[in-house]
Amino acid sequence: MHYIPVRIGTLRAWEAVNFDIFIKIGERHVHYIKKSDPFDGDRIQSLKTKGVKKLFIPMDSENDYLNYLDSGLDHLKNADLKIEDRAIIAKDSLVTSSENALKNVQTERGYKRTEGQIQKVLDFLTSEQGAMRQILSSSGVAQDTYQHSANVVALSLNLAARCGIKETQTLMNLGLAGLLHDAGKEELGIDTSIPREKMDLAQLTLYQQHCQRAAEKLQDKPYVTKQVLELILNHEEVGEGAGFPSKKRLSTLPKTQQILNLCNEYDRVCTVSGVSPLDAVKQFYVEKLGMFDLELLKLFSESIRA
Ligand SMILES: [Fe+2]
Ligand SMILES: [Fe+2]
Repeated sequence: MHYIPVRIGTLRAWEAVNFDIFIKIGERHVHYIKKSDPFDGDRIQSLKTKGVKKLFIPMDSENDYLNYLDSGLDHLKNADLKIEDRAIIAKDSLVTSSENALKNVQTERGYKRTEGQIQKVLDFLTSEQGAMRQILSSSGVAQDTYQHSANVVALSLNLAARCGIKETQTLMNLGLAGLLHDAGKEELGIDTSIPREKMDLAQLTLYQQHCQRAAEKLQDKPYVTKQVLELILNHEEVGEGAGFPSKKRLSTLPKTQQILNLCNEYDRVCTVSGVSPLDAVKQFYVEKLGMFDLELLKLFSESIRA
């Protein structure tokens, strides 16, 4: 049997599942929760407490899991649940959306499904006081591209809402671009865990192609808007031509682009320095003054802890 990993934060301890769950012990996948048995959510809770991050499901249950994930996002509106628990669902769902994004956006149906997931996280961020703070405290420092992308989506949507951007399609474009902006990194053949500050010239030259590569993966899809492609292509442009690939002046680009680029750079810097996104605001503000619009930086600082 083939298995796929699922993030434990997406599994709700209070609700039965309709797929089998396995835990990996050494090289073996051991049956942990059987869908035919009475559901024992305490077992999931106790694994969470022990710091286990991933469990496994059979590959042929993936669709059941994706449906379960979508219904989990409906719990973000459930005021009976603690906001901390809802923030974990939001965050782990975004990481899963990011992991699956490239595969899902191959079809219009998958693309719309991903938009639906983003919309529910957006509703949570805009309707619950403290949602952003809780999401960041549950995510901590991003360890890989998917966690980074999830943080970028949450930060960007939150900041966009603060800026008064309300148009649904604009917000969905921003969310989709956030999920996929670094999707061109994996195929570059370089170790993406090396921060760019430590790359040699050859590595850096290759690395600077990642925006274009990600945009190319989507450009033949008729349902992907031009705005999404532009957002991805320009996501590393900063300051007055201090970024790449085209050394554009960020102040001349649309507000959503400025939001994405700021949030992307913020989360990237957090990973490089190992400082949690909840605690890096002051330092970032000082170091990146001049790279981003001052008013936007101020709003961003406020939006993190709101
Ligand atoms: Fe990037
Ligand atoms: Fe990024």
